[in-house]
Amino acid sequence: VARLLLLLTTASYRASAFLEAASRLGMPVTVGSERPQVLSAANPAGNLTLDFSDPEGAARAIVAFAGTYPIAAVLAADDDGVVLAATAAAALGLPHSPVDAVAAARDKHRMRERLSAAGVPCPRFTKLSIDEDSAAAASTVAVEVGYPCVLKPLSLAASRGVIRADDPAGLAAAFRRLGAILHRPELSAREGALARHILVESFIPGVEVALEGLLSEGELRVLALFDKPDPLEGPFFEETIYVTPSRLPARVRKSIADHAQRVVTALGLTEGPVHVELRVNEEVPWILEVAPRSIGGLCSRTLRFNAAGAESAFFSLEEVILRQAFGIDGMPPPREGAAAGVMMIPIPRAGILREVRGRQEARKVSGIEDVLITIPVGQEVVPLPEGTRYLGFIFARSAAPENVEAALRKAHGRLTFDIEPAEEALGKREVSRESESVGKPSQGSSRRRGQPRRNRRR
Ligand SMILES: Nc1ncnc2c1ncn2[C@@H]1O[C@H](COP(=O)(O)OP(=O)(O)O)[C@@H](O)[C@H]1O
Ligand SMILES: [Mg+2]
Repeated sequence: VARLLLLLTTASYRASAFLEAASRLGMPVTVGSERPQVLSAANPAGNLTLDFSDPEGAARAIVAFAGTYPIAAVLAADDDGVVLAATAAAALGLPHSPVDAVAAARDKHRMRERLSAAGVPCPRFTKLSIDEDSAAAASTVAVEVGYPCVLKPLSLAASRGVIRADDPAGLAAAFRRLGAILHRPELSAREGALARHILVESFIPGVEVALEGLLSEGELRVLALFDKPDPLEGPFFEETIYVTPSRLPARVRKSIADHAQRVVTALGLTEGPVHVELRVNEEVPWILEVAPRSIGGLCSRTLRFNAAGAESAFFSLEEVILRQAFGIDGMPPPREGAAAGVMMIPIPRAGILREVRGRQEARKVSGIEDVLITIPVGQEVVPLPEGTRYLGFIFARSAAPENVEAALRKAHGRLTFDIEPAEEALGKREVSRESESVGKPSQGSSRRRGQPRRNRRR
């Protein structure tokens, strides 16, 4: 039986959803990843170690592997694997988007160049080297983009490093701050040349939506359209709430879908999942970005598709994607009738997560399906723009999108996060070391315990 090659990097949030989907469909899976997995004697074909930074070489290894274990589809769970997935699919003769289109979608500057060359309206944009002087960067931006503008990395995700600037001073500060993120060794090692530049775009006002789609022979099928009801005005852009179906008028939803089709065609993407983000002002959609993969984090849990005649009543997003990749379905099934949503719980401040309260109360809110805290107590939490993680996810499902949004907000309101500022945590260690030496309990920590105001969010 031909198998699925699932490309995963590091600890992916997306792994288990895809593995579960494959197992429900009875598909054998090989996980392709950069580090050798624990080998299982029972399943020697279960893992394949690949160098994602060398797609040509890795694709040759995949073709050799497929000589023994035939592969029917190659799928990347996250951004890091999409270029390799397309390269390998090309080498195996499987349907795939052109490698150069996928590579362009992985580089936000190349994406803008391709889109403007194809006549798709874009904000003004320019690319700066991270080694440029921040004053020089501000003068370039004044001429080529103007204010307000948004600075962003070429290839990161989840709004990491994305900063709005309203004037030259703000631009210079944001440029230095993002430069410091991109100069980090672990980032420059992973992102390579993509970490050497910063994209600056003019700020597009408006409401924001995310479109989850599936491409087949160049045709975009909309699986779901999410509203993002929290205003995203900057200076940082925390994603927070996604709710589907969208409450925008039908004609606006139609123009969003049409525009998304135009954008993927202009980029040259033809097959597989896409996550498209747009802004809408005066009913006109503007493309923010296209990712040649499905929605990130645990957000796909919001989506369920009607599985007519199947044993289970619903398909997950990952099942829909795999069913298309294996040629089981011609058209993707429609999303269920209910509204659904997720809140990615933002990190309100930097520090050490000491305690999370109110989870049970939050779960009791009508419409709430689950409340997951994904950062363990005791770990450091870092807010945007430097941070990479959310505190967790709240999931809701209800008859109407407004109920979903209200449930998410109410549940979030019942949660309290005690985050101890990092300096205080450090100071406390010093205080307690001192107090140990004089044999007395630490005053510092007991005083702090009585000051919930300082440890509460907002
Ligand atoms: N040109 C822009 N105008 C207004 N907001 C923007 C612009 N570019 C990005 N943003 C905001 O920043 C967020 C993250 O930017 P995006 O390009 O989607 O990068 P990421 O890959 O980190 O998601 C967007 O969802 C949007 O809210
Ligand atoms: Mg985005």
